[in-house]
Amino acid sequence: MNNNFSNRIQDQLLGSFRGKSVLVTGAFGFIGSHVAARLHALGADVSVLDVDAAPTRPSLLNEQGLRSLLRVHEGSVSDFPLVRKIFSERRFDYVFNLAAHASTVEKAIEDPLETFAVNSLSVVAMLEAMRLAGNVPTMFFHASTDKVYGELNDAAYLEDDPLFAEGLYDTAKMAADAFARSFHRVFKIPTVVLRMCNIFGPYDMNIQSRLLPKSLAALFAADTPEAPTLYTGSQGHSRDYLYIDDLVNCVLLLTATPACQGEAYNAISCAHQTTPEMMQALWSAAQAEAVHFDPVRAELIRKNGIRRVAAQNSEQVLTITRQHLNSDKLQAAIAYQPQVTLEDGLRRTAHFYRAYFEGQRQSGPVAQVASA
Ligand SMILES: NC(=O)c1ccc[n+]([C@@H]2O[C@H](COP(=O)([O-])OP(=O)(O)OC[C@H]3O[C@@H](n4cnc5c(N)ncnc54)[C@H](O)[C@@H]3O)[C@@H](O)[C@H]2O)c1
Repeated sequence: MNNNFSNRIQDQLLGSFRGKSVLVTGAFGFIGSHVAARLHALGADVSVLDVDAAPTRPSLLNEQGLRSLLRVHEGSVSDFPLVRKIFSERRFDYVFNLAAHASTVEKAIEDPLETFAVNSLSVVAMLEAMRLAGNVPTMFFHASTDKVYGELNDAAYLEDDPLFAEGLYDTAKMAADAFARSFHRVFKIPTVVLRMCNIFGPYDMNIQSRLLPKSLAALFAADTPEAPTLYTGSQGHSRDYLYIDDLVNCVLLLTATPACQGEAYNAISCAHQTTPEMMQALWSAAQAEAVHFDPVRAELIRKNGIRRVAAQNSEQVLTITRQHLNSDKLQAAIAYQPQVTLEDGLRRTAHFYRAYFEGQRQSGPVAQVASA
């Protein structure tokens, strides 16, 4: 990151969050853990709420020894009595809603009711609990997704486009996105919504389901690497990608900007890639990582290549073909450009997962992964 820019952002965020009381939901997940860790590093007084906060769970908060420094609530964001208790006992300056029951499309199909309860109703539960307690925060951040728009027909999604979500995960996120904005319009509660693209980086433990961790598991989890799988059905798909550190900066800057309340913003991205392009770039990054630490594995990764499989999604998985966000509104609001390129982000991601799976193979605790 450019040093002057990085220092300016750091100063701005220190000024906004040092000494502030914050709550992060879904804090043991991928994005929530990075947001909570960064807020702690900025000197905020961090509370977290997650339905699965077990001390042994693979999460940045557990593996970097952060959990003992935070106030941990274990429970569900959709448990209204619990949420009422938390918000009546304390006023948080900032609330970051990063919990999701099914943060992947396939999992939502397994349990639509729970998906709606956690991904939509919980937003109403939390905002209503704060309102009833008279403990309204300075800003409530809600994590939304580009999937709320549905299929892309124009060059890029704009915030004012109609929302045409169709899949179960997408529709639940669309309802939450609308509720967050509605609570601002009706009750003047300061809320801000960020519609995020595909985020990647260390500690995404959705290893069974998401393209990057799943592919890196194929390459590094077993003693002998397997070829990562590219489904022919996804060959025509394209997505925006953003490295986790850049996302965290955007989330914090947006939340700290009072003029953003009541608004929804599209995220920025470091690259727009077709799925085969992304897979190729990841495969190259994994090879380059392996060359340094395990040349035999690197050669096998090269030889195996990428496995192309002709498989259809279940008809119930409604996959959007093309997703691309116009981020002019966000850039005008927070003056932020991605600092980590796709190449560098993939290098750091491959570095993390190689070390993570190596630690798993040696069946010891996951070694501290040196930041790349
Ligand atoms: N990762 C992405 O690329 C991406 C893209 C767009 C939007 N999002 C949204 O960002 C948010 C965070 O995603 P993520 O990638 O960190 O997901 P994740 O699956 O890694 O983390 C979700 C967290 O929520 C927790 N959770 C689940 N049910 C809960 C409940 N009932 N109460 C409290 N906590 C609960 C989980 O235990 C987990 O820690 C989600 O709302 C997701 O929809 C993510």
